[in-house]
Amino acid sequence: MLARTMNRPVQDITALDLVTPSRALLGRDEQRTRIDGMLRAARRGESAALVIIGEPGIGKTALLDYAVSQAADMIVLSACGTQAEQALPFAALADVLRPLEEFRGALVPAQHEALALALAEEPGPPPSQLAVCVGTLGLLAAAADRKPVLICADDVHWIDAPSLEALLFSARRLAAGGIVMIFGTRPEGAELPWPAPIQRLDLTGLDRESAYQIVQRSTSAVPTELVLDRLFAGTSGNPLALAEVPGQLTPRQLTGLDPLPEPLPAGPTFGTVFRSRIAALPQRSRDALLVAAISGHDELPLLAEALAQVGLANADLEPAETAGLVTFTATRLMFNHPLIRAAVYDAALPAQRREAHRAIAGSVTGDLARKAYHLSEACLAPDDDVALLLEQAAAQAHSRGGYSASVHTYMRSAQLSTPGGARAKRLVQAGIQAQLTCQMDASVRLLEQGLAEATDPQLRLEATALLATSMIWCGRAGRGHRLLVEAAEALRRSGNDHAAARLLSHATLPCFLNREIGAGLRAGERAYELSEGSDVHTRFRALTALGCILSYAGQTERALPLLLEACGLFHHSGVDVYDTVGTAYVSMLANCLINMEEFAEAQKLLEPVVATCRARTAPALLPYALAICGELAFRTGDWPAAYANLTEGVVLGEETGSYGDHPYPRSALARLAAAQGREQECCEHVQVALSFYGGSDFHTIRTRSHGAMGLLLLGQGQVEKAITELEQAVFSPEARAVREPALWPWLPDLIEAYARAGRRAEAQRQLDDLIEMTELAGRSWARAVVARSRALLATGAEAERLFTAALDEHRSLSLPFDQARTELCYGEWLRRSGRMAAAREPLRAALATFDRLEANPWANRARTELRASGVNPRNRPLGGQTQDLTPQETQVAMAVASGMTNRAAAEALFLSSKTVAFHLTNVYRKLGLNSRTQLAARFAGKAGLAGHNPVP
Ligand SMILES: Nc1ncnc2c1ncn2[C@@H]1O[C@H](COP(=O)(O)OP(=O)(O)OP(=O)(O)O)[C@@H](O)[C@H]1O
Ligand SMILES: [Mg+2]
Repeated sequence: MLARTMNRPVQDITALDLVTPSRALLGRDEQRTRIDGMLRAARRGESAALVIIGEPGIGKTALLDYAVSQAADMIVLSACGTQAEQALPFAALADVLRPLEEFRGALVPAQHEALALALAEEPGPPPSQLAVCVGTLGLLAAAADRKPVLICADDVHWIDAPSLEALLFSARRLAAGGIVMIFGTRPEGAELPWPAPIQRLDLTGLDRESAYQIVQRSTSAVPTELVLDRLFAGTSGNPLALAEVPGQLTPRQLTGLDPLPEPLPAGPTFGTVFRSRIAALPQRSRDALLVAAISGHDELPLLAEALAQVGLANADLEPAETAGLVTFTATRLMFNHPLIRAAVYDAALPAQRREAHRAIAGSVTGDLARKAYHLSEACLAPDDDVALLLEQAAAQAHSRGGYSASVHTYMRSAQLSTPGGARAKRLVQAGIQAQLTCQMDASVRLLEQGLAEATDPQLRLEATALLATSMIWCGRAGRGHRLLVEAAEALRRSGNDHAAARLLSHATLPCFLNREIGAGLRAGERAYELSEGSDVHTRFRALTALGCILSYAGQTERALPLLLEACGLFHHSGVDVYDTVGTAYVSMLANCLINMEEFAEAQKLLEPVVATCRARTAPALLPYALAICGELAFRTGDWPAAYANLTEGVVLGEETGSYGDHPYPRSALARLAAAQGREQECCEHVQVALSFYGGSDFHTIRTRSHGAMGLLLLGQGQVEKAITELEQAVFSPEARAVREPALWPWLPDLIEAYARAGRRAEAQRQLDDLIEMTELAGRSWARAVVARSRALLATGAEAERLFTAALDEHRSLSLPFDQARTELCYGEWLRRSGRMAAAREPLRAALATFDRLEANPWANRARTELRASGVNPRNRPLGGQTQDLTPQETQVAMAVASGMTNRAAAEALFLSSKTVAFHLTNVYRKLGLNSRTQLAARFAGKAGLAGHNPVP
């Protein structure tokens, strides 16, 4: 906090002390690296100097503070210029040199005296400037002999001239010596005579991510992505403005419910900087500037037309140009900073703003959206004509794919509508657009408002169905389901069976999440009945819905033909699935097929869906589909692919703001991390997934999270703790309705944990349940784990028979992780029975699989067992593990290994080619590889990127 603590007068209105203090420096990696490098060099005895130039609030002081925070081992000296002390000679230098009192002895008397005079320690005539400069240099060098020195001089544009001269004198002569000087100045200081050794750093706005964080921490509201985008653009990433502007907005504006003001208001501190310059302009110039600020287009002829509406001309803007607020080019007028527009707007009275908007609207021809917007901003009361114009503009924006624009425009249209039918319709429209842009919370509120006013039955129906969808996405599955069933009932009563069937199909989807299997079955059966004779799209959904819910209920025999019929429609009848709900159907369908061990069928569905979503750059549709790809890869033992797909699902789910979409892949990722023994990662995923669960009724997320924790602990041999977690996964009443054994991977885990803890009776109870499910559904995986579980509870020849049966069953379907776990159990049992030699074969097989999967805790156990059986197990394979790669590195590696060029991989992964190359370098380094061929060999047989290469 160096410069902040300097004696800056309170009345300095541009001081930023009042602004929320920075908690942590965000972004600025490049600048930090640069500063770090300078400090490192100083520790090696080199010197360096830097001037940071940037507009008010851009973060110069923050960077100087950062430098200070990194220089705990150095002598830190600082000064800060102020307007009040600008005329006081050597004021800043005194601040810099005062702490160096103890080194004064190193100076020759003339310099000593000159400094004493300069720093006003002794009365006398003004000292020679040269003597002060040399004295300053001498003192700094003496200090640097003991320790490296950091000097930070902030707000140099206000530092008194003699002080600055002394500092620059030293800077010029400091090639070595271990001294770092960093200056900070606003652009007006850029013209100072900076000597050559001083490097220049032009500081511009923050990166998008950091900007978003500043906004988020400066308001308790939760701004939508669109609002964040607008704030980012409107402030050019200026951190001060980003922190201040949200305070000028209402919570509704921040959360996207009300449109943002245009232009954005400047913050109090920021506005002050320009306000005085604006105030000094002649009235005509201020009026013209207001029209220019509001008009949003900068082409001179258009501007001239708008100005003419109020009797002004472009020439009236010249004083603003002289004042440094705007710049004329041959064809355009440019504001020198986006926030100048804001300050101009702020400085105007509301009536003046309305007049300007009206003037602009009057000059616009042909651009419906602009005209409607400016007219609406000139409105003081509801105006149905303007509302209609806005509605038309919103529809136009929608048809061009500009959903986010149309949310605001419809909302504004609703605001300006007099109460009645049109307003309800417009609110519903805004809700639809919000849903299309994944702003589910906003969508729920808008649709609820619309429903409260709507009287038309058709509109009510449509709004209800949409509201249900948004609610489900927000984590309110039960409520969404009920709304859909009610709406379907209304449709059926009016004879619209096929539409009812679609809603009822849709109504089953939340039931998978909240485990209301009974309710899902009722909806699914009804959907199936009513879809009789309907179009393929409706039939596809009904078949999928009923088939899936039946399979969850354990009724495989009825389910499978329905699901396969749905697959047939998908492949041969061109069902359109590329909307938010459609992809969910295909993914559900694939998921159920995976449960039923129809891996190839599932693969055939997922491939085109993921590829098409990628090709259409529709990442919002991908998270769930990627999660299912990940599940498939996990079960079939292609864990790098699972890791890459699931991570991409999580990231895209979060980035696209599809609220309910990331916990699912996240809980799958937790299970993978658990199996590989990546404890921290597993716990993190579980924590995030559970925190989402807290606000939802997605019981599946809770179950899966505890299941993952249980597997982690079981692998680590922490049996009792594992039991606690697994019991939470298994003993939830909702979950009991699910009778598909594949959805119970934690049940065999719990049985194993009980068996290891000697709690046989409890193990047997769970085993009985698993057996019942397995007999009902009949799955190879389930039969194998049932046999293994029974073996764990059996003795003698019976145990051996059961282990052998389990392994036979495993051989009929390749699920490597499960098979290796059976081999491990069998090997342990053989060893404990004293059959050392026999134990080695299954243990070696288990170890090889665990090593390949990088299931490290399990591999360790296999190694320990092998040792106990009297052999030295093979070492872990050489080279880095693929789990050392970051998710993005894994994705890039797999894409390239599958034969894609860097460029193709970049396109598919929504990255830049440079980023791909960067990740690839890291992959080679981490895995100890040298070529693409080696990379391909390392990932041989792996899936590649979901949507590009077949999953085996
Ligand atoms: N990278 C950053 N991360 C987080 N907050 C930041 C960052 N940069 C600046 N800020 C915050 O923004 C505000 C303005 O930054 P700062 O005071 O550094 O601006 P400045 O460029 O020195 O402005 P001025 O020229 O008016 O002195 C401060 O509250 C600061 O903490
Ligand atoms: Mg500053």
